Amino acid sequence: MNEAEGQNLLCDVTLVAGNVSLAAHKVVLAACSSYFKAMFTCRLSESTADKIDLRLLDSTALEILVDFMYTSELYITEENVQALLPGANILQLFEVKDACCDFLQSQLHPSNCIGIRSFADLHACADLAYYAHLYTQQHFVEVAIQDEFLNLPLPQMIKLISDDRLLVQSEEQVYEAVISWTMYDFSNRQKHIDQLIEYIRLSLNLKINVFSLTRLPLLSQDFLVQRVEDEPLIKNCSRCKDFLIEAMKYHLLKPEQKLLYITPRTKPRSPAGLPKMMLVIGGQAPKAIKSVECYDFKENKWHQVSDMPSRRCRCGVAVLGGLVYAIGGFNGSLRVRTVDVYEPIKDVWTPLISMEARRSTLGAAVLNGLIYAVGGFDGSSGLSSAECFDPRTNEWRYIASMSLRRSSVGVGVLGGLLFAVGGYDGASRHCLSSVEAYSATGDKWLPVPDMTCRRSGAGVGTMDGLLYAVGGHDGPFVRKSVECYNPETKCWSLVASMHMCRRNAGVVTYNNMLYVVGGDDGMSNLSSVECYCPKSDAWTLLPHTMHLGRSYAGVCIIDRPM
Ligand SMILES: *[C@@H]1O[C@H](CO)[C@@H](O)[C@H](O)[C@H]1NC(C)=O
Ligand SMILES: *[C@@H]1O[C@H](CO)[C@@H](O)[C@H](O)[C@H]1NC(C)=O
Ligand SMILES: *[C@@H]1O[C@H](CO)[C@@H](O)[C@H](O)[C@H]1NC(C)=O
Repeated sequence: MNEAEGQNLLCDVTLVAGNVSLAAHKVVLAACSSYFKAMFTCRLSESTADKIDLRLLDSTALEILVDFMYTSELYITEENVQALLPGANILQLFEVKDACCDFLQSQLHPSNCIGIRSFADLHACADLAYYAHLYTQQHFVEVAIQDEFLNLPLPQMIKLISDDRLLVQSEEQVYEAVISWTMYDFSNRQKHIDQLIEYIRLSLNLKINVFSLTRLPLLSQDFLVQRVEDEPLIKNCSRCKDFLIEAMKYHLLKPEQKLLYITPRTKPRSPAGLPKMMLVIGGQAPKAIKSVECYDFKENKWHQVSDMPSRRCRCGVAVLGGLVYAIGGFNGSLRVRTVDVYEPIKDVWTPLISMEARRSTLGAAVLNGLIYAVGGFDGSSGLSSAECFDPRTNEWRYIASMSLRRSSVGVGVLGGLLFAVGGYDGASRHCLSSVEAYSATGDKWLPVPDMTCRRSGAGVGTMDGLLYAVGGHDGPFVRKSVECYNPETKCWSLVASMHMCRRNAGVVTYNNMLYVVGGDDGMSNLSSVECYCPKSDAWTLLPHTMHLGRSYAGVCIIDRPM
């Protein structure tokens, strides 16, 4: 039929679009396109016409699409896709439309994602519109310097900056975007500034810039005072000043008051849908090391990322506000109080203010927006003390001490309580089976039932409302057993054992699986990772091991930087 069409043999219809006319066979067109089928089989004047003017169709699109109907082949390019997609839509060639959408999705870039989004909306491509929108959210900072962004009309601009799921390192970036959008057409847009400032979360200003932490402990306040207050645009807008006062007031509140002071501008944005990575920080291999590797769950691969500024094993690791804190530990000669902070987006480590006490083999966790460092060993004795860090004030302060000294303690947060599990108390020379839980409300430690056995150096993680204690040791005996605590029944119960005995391993939860990373089995440091599926109550060894055998590494889950 394709040959016949090429030679204009037995063609019974001519299609016209713009200055192109093509002879074709009705039966082929009708077989491929329900648009033509309806046209040729209905009792319309067109069903008998031998010349059809497709006014809405682009001439190039007509040639390519007719060729496709004869050959099942077509090449989508940046040049033709804008004509092909609407053409495929009209002729109801849905496989072509889908291919065009896939093509456009593969072309998404900060400079075109807003345009592709509206193109997708216009032509009812729901998936493409979704991905273009997601792309815009996830690349907001790069998008905000592009022409497409600067030319956005006000309603779309408001929609975009009020979006809860924008991915920004700090609210300052949204602020700067609003100012540059306004300056781009100052005379017409100046009057809208108050409508835009309303959606900037000034109060939260802002995720702290770690580079400035040591110099400017309250960067956010300084930013408000220096950058925002002096902005002529804001000075001239009384509603903006109200928002500014609200933000300043928020900054004067005590941390616990802040938790209670809620406006649309005090809620952090929550970027969604980011893929995750597992970071494994330092450790013994066999001595304290600086190296950091990360496992990409999407690619199933290990990568190396930037080293820490100093050697560190037996540290505590916590993730807060997109930053990774490596806290305390042992540097090969000394138990340290120092803290290094990692910014995944920049792949950079920066030192932060030190803890009050030297702590290695401590437990670290985040509870109510604060980072807790619990127990550990200071070089001469085990510690019952614990302290917490508030990133908004950039200060460590002691909290109530535990009932026992616990070095090699594991911690986990569940139901608003921070659990300190097992460890070694030095005094009785026994590994501990006891557990206690910290309640921030009363600043006190509450008793929790003992585990079924003594565990020091156990990995602790939480999943689906349960607290898991994984491996650990009692004297020279290294465990492969695992137990979990249900706070509702207040009972510990054993679950399936790991493949290997492990102590001083790292434990994290990802995608409803518990991952146990490295550790040592009493003989050697392990590079293997196993994961536990609670549904099947079974452990699986990950096929890919770390580059190094590591015990006492810090492990956490982070968003994969885009
Ligand atoms: C302040 O706002 C008024 C009215 O909106 C406008 O006429 C004036 O030019 C603005 N001044 C500055 C410095 O932006
Ligand atoms: C493993 O780490 C321990 C410390 O936990 C160290 O003493 C030992 O030498 C390491 N073993 C190997 C085989 O790397
Ligand atoms: C460990 O830390 C101490 C104190 O900061 C420092 O003097 C020492 O050089 C460090 N040791 C190593 C091996 O980095």
